[in-house]
Amino acid sequence: MKCVAIKGIKEFEIKELQEPSVDHENVIIDVKKCGICGSDIHYWVAGEPLGLVMGHEFSGVVKDPGSRSDLKIGDRVTGLPISPCGNCDACLSGNPQYCASTWQQAVGLSLSNPGALTKQTKVRPDMIMKLPDTVNDCEGAMVEPTAVGLHAIHLADIKVGAKVLVIGGGIIGLVSAMFAKMEGASYVALSETNRKRGEKAVRLGVADEWFDAKDTKMVETLLQKTNGGFDVVIECCGTSPAVGTALMTVKPGKTVVLVGVSLGTVTIPTIVGVMKELKILGAIGYTKEEFQTCITLMAEKKIDVLKFVDDIVGLEEVQKAYERLTSGTDDAVKILVDPNK
Ligand SMILES: NC(=O)c1ccc[n+]([C@@H]2O[C@H](COP(=O)([O-])OP(=O)(O)OC[C@H]3O[C@@H](n4cnc5c(N)ncnc54)[C@H](O)[C@@H]3O)[C@@H](O)[C@H]2O)c1
Ligand SMILES: [Zn+2]
Ligand SMILES: [Zn+2]
Repeated sequence: MKCVAIKGIKEFEIKELQEPSVDHENVIIDVKKCGICGSDIHYWVAGEPLGLVMGHEFSGVVKDPGSRSDLKIGDRVTGLPISPCGNCDACLSGNPQYCASTWQQAVGLSLSNPGALTKQTKVRPDMIMKLPDTVNDCEGAMVEPTAVGLHAIHLADIKVGAKVLVIGGGIIGLVSAMFAKMEGASYVALSETNRKRGEKAVRLGVADEWFDAKDTKMVETLLQKTNGGFDVVIECCGTSPAVGTALMTVKPGKTVVLVGVSLGTVTIPTIVGVMKELKILGAIGYTKEEFQTCITLMAEKKIDVLKFVDDIVGLEEVQKAYERLTSGTDDAVKILVDPNK
């Protein structure tokens, strides 16, 4: 079967991949939709690991149910791409995101488990979740990034009436902003370097206002606007300027949630964190419960994530889709891949 694999810096190749074999344990799915994630973009930009087949945000139809006796061929599913050990304290306490094994064999994020940028993929039986009829294939592929935002918001512990700043208007920033409003934030601001993405966040109703991160006076403006800072800042970008802005725009004693990741070292003014006695929290992934919550919220039409989907492309168009997502001038935020297109 055809797949999209990393060939070099900002370069993919279409090549042949062996179909996953039935092992009576793992679930094999025919991929329906697969999302392109900001984390995938980091790997593409770095050009490694060479040969990696990405795609950890997926929906599909069961081809082989493996050891899942409750599943049958044709069932519609999504899944957590992670590989927690299941036995450590973290796993036993319902926090697979703390498990040391969680990302080691992750689907679409490790060489050992090719992801969904192809026609079929293999997922651990305990990670597969059924999709109700009211959640379509596009929504199914959106569960994973939505759960990342939900996890960040749970950690942020937003109080009704709080003022929240989200830094970065990619999909993680947009879903975080959406959940911040649902938690009762009275004002949600978003900062972006890409004007089109900033305007889009406001147009889609997840942010009240957007601010241009290229404006050297932005921090000052935000501090004036909020009378001394935000109650919560959710950093969904990962670069030094973005993390620095987070520390500078949050109110003393309040919370910064770091969601953005960087493959390199990020330099931040720690003195600001010290002087303001900030709570700086990291947020990684999600719990199984949060993943399931996102499916339920979609099924009950409590959240609309389809408004974030800009395009659906075939495997041959993946390279172009990545270029579009990284142009810095396009308003596209989420592009899904349909390997059968
Ligand atoms: N912690 C987790 O579990 C987790 C999960 C998924 C993604 N991520 C990370 O979260 C980040 C966001 O993911 P995404 O899919 O939304 O990515 P994305 O690349 O689509 O979005 C990042 C956005 O930040 C904007 N930006 C860049 N510099 C900025 C600055 N200085 N100030 C404000 N905005 C700026 C970019 O224009 C872009 O729109 C990425 O680093 C990704 O790797 C973390
Ligand atoms: Zn993702
Ligand atoms: Zn574990």
